[in-house]
Amino acid sequence: MTEQHDVVDIIRTKRDRGTLADDQIDWVIDAYTRGVVADEQMSALAMAILINGMTRPEIARWTAAMIASGERMDFSALSRPTSDKHSTGGVGDKITLPLAPLVAVFDIAVPQLSGRGLGHTGGTLDKLESIPGWRADLSNAQMLAQLDDVGAVICAAGAGLAPADKKLYALRDVTGTVEAIPLIASSIMSKKIAEGTGALVLDVKVGSGAFMKTREDATELARTMVDLGTDAGVNTVALITDMSVPLGLTAGNALEVRESVEVLAGGGPQDVVDLTVALADEMTRAAGKDVGTDELRAALADGRAMDVWRRMISAQGGDPDAPLPTAAETQTVTADADGYLEHLDAMAVGMAAWRLGAGRARKEDPVQAGAGVELHARPGDKVTKGQPLMTLHTDTPERFARAQESLDGGWRIASQAPSRGSVVLDRITAQEA
Ligand code: URA
Repeated sequence: MTEQHDVVDIIRTKRDRGTLADDQIDWVIDAYTRGVVADEQMSALAMAILINGMTRPEIARWTAAMIASGERMDFSALSRPTSDKHSTGGVGDKITLPLAPLVAVFDIAVPQLSGRGLGHTGGTLDKLESIPGWRADLSNAQMLAQLDDVGAVICAAGAGLAPADKKLYALRDVTGTVEAIPLIASSIMSKKIAEGTGALVLDVKVGSGAFMKTREDATELARTMVDLGTDAGVNTVALITDMSVPLGLTAGNALEVRESVEVLAGGGPQDVVDLTVALADEMTRAAGKDVGTDELRAALADGRAMDVWRRMISAQGGDPDAPLPTAAETQTVTADADGYLEHLDAMAVGMAAWRLGAGRARKEDPVQAGAGVELHARPGDKVTKGQPLMTLHTDTPERFARAQESLDGGWRIASQAPSRGSVVLDRITAQEA
């Protein structure tokens, strides 16, 4: 087959701050998926995009080309509206676990295609796989049947969905090009649009534990994704949420499942409950149902969301009553002074959990179900010298020293209580045309 374009011209165009034509974008994504464009050529293009950016029309075309590289799912046979959530990832972000069953209580189907974690942020599938028997891999037919029956499914995205993104994301991961806003936006939105959800709520995290470190970058990413979704006919809204401190009191797979079950039982840490309710409010409204936050909180408190959780876990082979795995060894970090916990850095806690075995360095590495960090105090809490601040969990005690190193300088005790704001910082909706 004669190729239509010269990839080196395309790389040079972006290197020299030019704009790629629609047919160049269509071709380069297709040719990369077919293996005609080599990894080193795509790496150079990704780096040029990271440095020089892309226009909105270029991002939209790049996203469309990635969608066209694979299959599109179709939920139109379902009797309920569909609403999904995507988080850009953070430390202790277990919100999908209580959120999906909570939204399903209100007759909305929640198709949550999730991933495994890489680096310091955990993956939703790794968390759920700590439940004995639970399986992530479902066929499209099984997924549809579960959505029809239970209303919520959290499972692995099949290989057929945006294969160009799978290949490109793995390449970006090893070439320092993950952080490009056009590439993050098109990567996330190509999968969500191909998945076929009717409504989508984006949780764009900002702070030390997130991809986006500044409000400005988080807002640009959110705006880009909301525009891409809206243009593709998906009712899309984004919340910008705080990831300067970990979410809740746990980071690590089984530890986070335990905390999620506490939230589903009507308890759990305030920030996890507040963010679950805020996102559920957006998801229900985006699906055309005005449930309201009081009713959402009631569904957590009275067991309706827990009932859906139990059915959702059982439908995928999991035993919701089985004891969760625990790590073989623990070590405690104690307060070194009296005062208030002024600061607790999300990245430090995420790195510690990762080094304890909760996360993986390469995508084929196994994770430890019981490993992670359990917090006993949150920023703002009064503490006394010698009081436990955190418990570190691992099966491999030789990991404690490196985990402790990542926590060095990651927390601070002060004489004054810090002011604590809300976890939700901003809301980004579609712009008027
Ligand atoms: N998550 C994705 O799916 N893609 C990215 O590029 C970054 C986060």
